[in-house]
Amino acid sequence: MAAFFFGLLFLALQSPPIPSSTAERGDGDRGPPPAFTASSPLALNNTGATGHPNGTFQQLPHIIIIGVRKGGTRALIEMLSLHSAVAAAENEVHFFDWESHFKKGIPWYLSQMPFSLSDQLTVEKTPAYFTSSMVPKRIHRMKPDMKLMLILRDPTDRVLSDYTQVFYNHLQKHKRYQPIESVLVKDGEINLGYKALNRSLYHMHLRNWLHYFPLESIHVVDGDKLIRDPFPEMKRVEKFLNLEPQINASNFYFNKTKGFYCLRDHGQERCLHNSKGRAHPHVAPAMLHKLYRFFHEPNRKLFELVGRTFNWN
Ligand SMILES: *[C@@H]1O[C@H](CO)[C@@H](O)[C@H](O)[C@H]1NC(C)=O
Ligand SMILES: *[C@@H]1O[C@H](CO)[C@@H](O)[C@H](O)[C@H]1NC(C)=O
Ligand SMILES: *[C@@H]1O[C@H](CO)[C@@H](O)[C@H](O)[C@H]1NC(C)=O
Ligand SMILES: *[C@@H]1O[C@H](CO)[C@@H](O)[C@H](O)[C@H]1NC(C)=O
Ligand SMILES: *[C@@H]1O[C@H](CO)[C@@H](O)[C@H](O)[C@H]1NC(C)=O
Repeated sequence: MAAFFFGLLFLALQSPPIPSSTAERGDGDRGPPPAFTASSPLALNNTGATGHPNGTFQQLPHIIIIGVRKGGTRALIEMLSLHSAVAAAENEVHFFDWESHFKKGIPWYLSQMPFSLSDQLTVEKTPAYFTSSMVPKRIHRMKPDMKLMLILRDPTDRVLSDYTQVFYNHLQKHKRYQPIESVLVKDGEINLGYKALNRSLYHMHLRNWLHYFPLESIHVVDGDKLIRDPFPEMKRVEKFLNLEPQINASNFYFNKTKGFYCLRDHGQERCLHNSKGRAHPHVAPAMLHKLYRFFHEPNRKLFELVGRTFNWN
């Protein structure tokens, strides 16, 4: 399969004329055109990388942040981009989970990647991958030694965040929304038909990944800790990725107004978008406890699977 894709990619890149987006995007201020040793500036090599005249490449990801939705994936990829050896895709790519994208093949996927230097690692994040059943197999076919990162947080908090996001989306579009209690419970029982609840059954989704990838290839980030104290979690991430330790405590500062950490990157300060960390809807304590109890068993199964526990409710 991979061979097939690379074959396709090779064909696509071989066919003259060279795509104008790279051949003609001269800025006029770069001086004489660089000399090429290859016959084309877009030469594919064994790593599936395509070159650009300025010495950068688009490379297939070495790392994919697979989820979980509302787990803190944006924070994670932003913090990871603090490292100079990491190049992050700007948007969620949805290659492996959306048929309309997957159909376009690897050349399209590659075209979504950032330009990077040859010694940089490329990372993309698409949180929907984690809960999409066909994704693990597809990634494995493309790159069996892919490094995967999964950021998890308390499953009940995650459900509430998930609901909150949908709630605000509906509010914006003036669409009707259902009160949280009515989606969480059906006939007095926890409503497993509610997708947001299903997404928090981490062990079930993770099992699907473990059919294809060894646990050593999947680094689990503690999302609650990452938000409370980012630096130690990021040190673990660097270690997992075999990156030279570079991210340090001074890359983070606490913004009291926001109640969150913001990032300091080469003197530039940036905070995450305002929709991150929105207040959750009020949920009756009895309901909350019902949820905590409900997740107790799924959580235990997850801890067993990853050989580690989390400090969840
Ligand atoms: C190289 O070119 C790419 C594509 O135009 C651009 O995104 C990138 O910023 C450039 N990098 C450098 C170092 O000029
Ligand atoms: C392919 O390109 C990558 C990215 O620049 C480079 O690191 C690697 O050495 C190249 N491999 C081959 C076989 O030319
Ligand atoms: C949860 O989602 C998975 C994957 O989409 C599905 O296979 C499963 O049947 C769902 N479970 C419940 C209880 O709805
Ligand atoms: C942290 O990193 C920044 C930029 O990479 C560097 O200037 C600074 O000296 C580092 N601080 C410490 C305490 O290592
Ligand atoms: C802290 O957060 C507030 C509120 O979002 C924002 O207006 C301000 O610019 C931030 N300050 C810093 C130093 O990041």
